[in-house]
Amino acid sequence: MKVTIYGSGYVGLVTGTCLAEVGNDVLCVDIDERKTKMLQDGGIPIYEPGLEDLVKKNTAAGRLRFTSDPAEGTAHGLFQFIAVGTPPDEDGSADLQYVLAVANSIGEHMDEYRIIIDKSTVPVGTADKVRDKVNAVLKARGADVEFDVVSNPEFLKEGAAIDDFMKPDRIVIGTDNPRTTELLRALYSPFNRNHNRLVDMDIRSAELTKYAANAMLATKISFMNELSNLAELLGADIEKVRVGIGSDPRIGYSFIYPGCGYGGSCFPKDVQALERTANEIGYNAELLSAVEAVNLRQKEILFQKVNQHFNGELKGKTFAIWGLAFKPNTDDMRAAPARTLMEALWAAGAKVQAYDPEAMEEAQRIYGDRDDLSLVDSADAALAGADALVTVTEWNVFRSPDFNLIKENLTQPVIFDGRNMYDPEQLKADGFTYYSIGRDTAHA
Ligand SMILES: NC(=O)c1ccc[n+]([C@@H]2O[C@H](COP(=O)([O-])OP(=O)(O)OC[C@H]3O[C@@H](n4cnc5c(N)ncnc54)[C@H](O)[C@@H]3O)[C@@H](O)[C@H]2O)c1
Repeated sequence: MKVTIYGSGYVGLVTGTCLAEVGNDVLCVDIDERKTKMLQDGGIPIYEPGLEDLVKKNTAAGRLRFTSDPAEGTAHGLFQFIAVGTPPDEDGSADLQYVLAVANSIGEHMDEYRIIIDKSTVPVGTADKVRDKVNAVLKARGADVEFDVVSNPEFLKEGAAIDDFMKPDRIVIGTDNPRTTELLRALYSPFNRNHNRLVDMDIRSAELTKYAANAMLATKISFMNELSNLAELLGADIEKVRVGIGSDPRIGYSFIYPGCGYGGSCFPKDVQALERTANEIGYNAELLSAVEAVNLRQKEILFQKVNQHFNGELKGKTFAIWGLAFKPNTDDMRAAPARTLMEALWAAGAKVQAYDPEAMEEAQRIYGDRDDLSLVDSADAALAGADALVTVTEWNVFRSPDFNLIKENLTQPVIFDGRNMYDPEQLKADGFTYYSIGRDTAHA
């Protein structure tokens, strides 16, 4: 089948590549000409495990192509996937300008039936806006062309995106036309063989399902972070509490890890956007506001622990930071807790020596050259002469480090662990001052 994907970012590139992998003829359209050129030349603009090989394979087979020409995109696919960004607007609501720009260009160029599929995460009612936009442009052109608008939110996780797309938990299709459900069922059939994962519903419910999923996951994280702060004040160990509650099948073990807050391109903006949607219709979404507030506070917790340990005297100190990406197996630093930490350290006059297995280029792109940031090429190099180590992202490579080497390289044996990767007893025995999340009773 012929498929066009607008947006060659994390979602668009993975969607396009996976649809090409199962034999479809896919054209990816991105207005970022630099990105498109890079992809045309065989480069990959993002890090996502397994993606590069699949892009190369499908490009070589002629099933996956890239362009910056929207007219070519509209002419190509029966399926027109919109997978562009929906960043937060100034007030936190989802900024739909990129989605509506695609709708506009589809309206301008469309001359036969098309299925327009919102894959971007968009507020309830966006499909109506897309439909209105296309209709308005068609009308202005004096064109009478049939089309449908479908909501098909994406649930992939960065770092496991290929697997998630190839073996989805569910494929949500929101539509008001049964014909489009059947066409999408056919498109998704290679990913739906084992058992039926396709959940079809009305458009508004599909749009809300995506926000509901992310808000629920963010709630679990903020809940555990709230509890971790309570545990410290009450003299309890949050890791023991975690296992204690996770063993209840109604709660489960997943997504209840305490840490230094959630980041990334989805949870922060989606919780905010849902909250704003609620406000717009006069509903005060108190739980969502609390989830967001707890997370903002939690993202400051590492800095607070550092500041407290050094009695507020951070000027001239140097900190080794392990992990910049908002989570392991990605280079994505959008809303990453490491950014909150580094920016607070800089504001206090400290320096940072940072290492991340994949996000170094992204950090360089975001912060450029500055005297108080050294982006070094190994975890060990980050330690040299630093006053303390702060771990922010739980990459596997940081899980079992050589503690002797850490001790030899730091000016003092102090570790702040934002992901509870190490054993407090062992570190104490090894002579470290060790801070983590929800287990620092002695220091509370
Ligand atoms: N990243 C994730 O893990 C994830 C998961 C599920 C859903 N989502 C949602 O999917 C959407 C895309 O997210 P992403 O992380 O892939 O974004 P991204 O920023 O990585 O990519 C978006 C791309 O769209 C391109 N673009 C913007 N306007 C365009 C236009 N008019 N025509 C063609 N291309 C255009 C940009 O140049 C960019 O390359 C968002 O709504 C996001 O919330 C993201």
